[in-house]
Amino acid sequence: MKNIVILISGSGSNMAAIVKASQREHWAEQHGACVAAVISNKAAASGLNFARSHGLATHVLEHTAYPDRAAFDTALAALIDTYSTPRQPVRVVLAGFMRILTADFVHHYAGRLVNIHPSLLPAFAGLNTHQRAIDAGCKVAGATVHLVTPELDHGPILAQAVVPVLPSDSAATLAQRVLTQEHLIYPQAVRAWLQNE
Ligand code: GRF
Repeated sequence: MKNIVILISGSGSNMAAIVKASQREHWAEQHGACVAAVISNKAAASGLNFARSHGLATHVLEHTAYPDRAAFDTALAALIDTYSTPRQPVRVVLAGFMRILTADFVHHYAGRLVNIHPSLLPAFAGLNTHQRAIDAGCKVAGATVHLVTPELDHGPILAQAVVPVLPSDSAATLAQRVLTQEHLIYPQAVRAWLQNE
């Protein structure tokens, strides 16, 4: 079985979409993969409630409890790796995990680590993507699922979704339109990634 660990920091709606798809589409039986655990770096992340109510193992690892980024990432990897099995190393899905990861962490999970970013990469890496797209006068925006490499919001693209930017849009209305598409493409992209690797 390919165990998937999902990392969140907040509402975890992308995590929930992946969990629901994995159950609805019987990933365990069909693809030999299952969501094994959800880890948050914030105890208050509301997505933890969804994960608990769906019977998933959950863990909170507060980054503030560690002296630096490297120490946190080392502890995080040790926790994640408890979900590796002798035959199958764990796969890691970032879903609104608001931490920059060290190169050591990224190298450790090379080819086993995916992220979703709320822009059409390579445009608008980093934060405030929706406001930046509006300010730039973009007519379309979207989301990108990609393999994670040490450079922030780079890495081979697995899937993208495109939405219109409307003249009336605020960052919030555009974010909601993009998020609706994220919930469709992220589960599909993770499933295809697991099938094709
Ligand atoms: C999503 O827009 C995702 O692309 C970005 O952060 C947001 C997380 O939302 N990285 P959620 O926690 O999945 O609801």
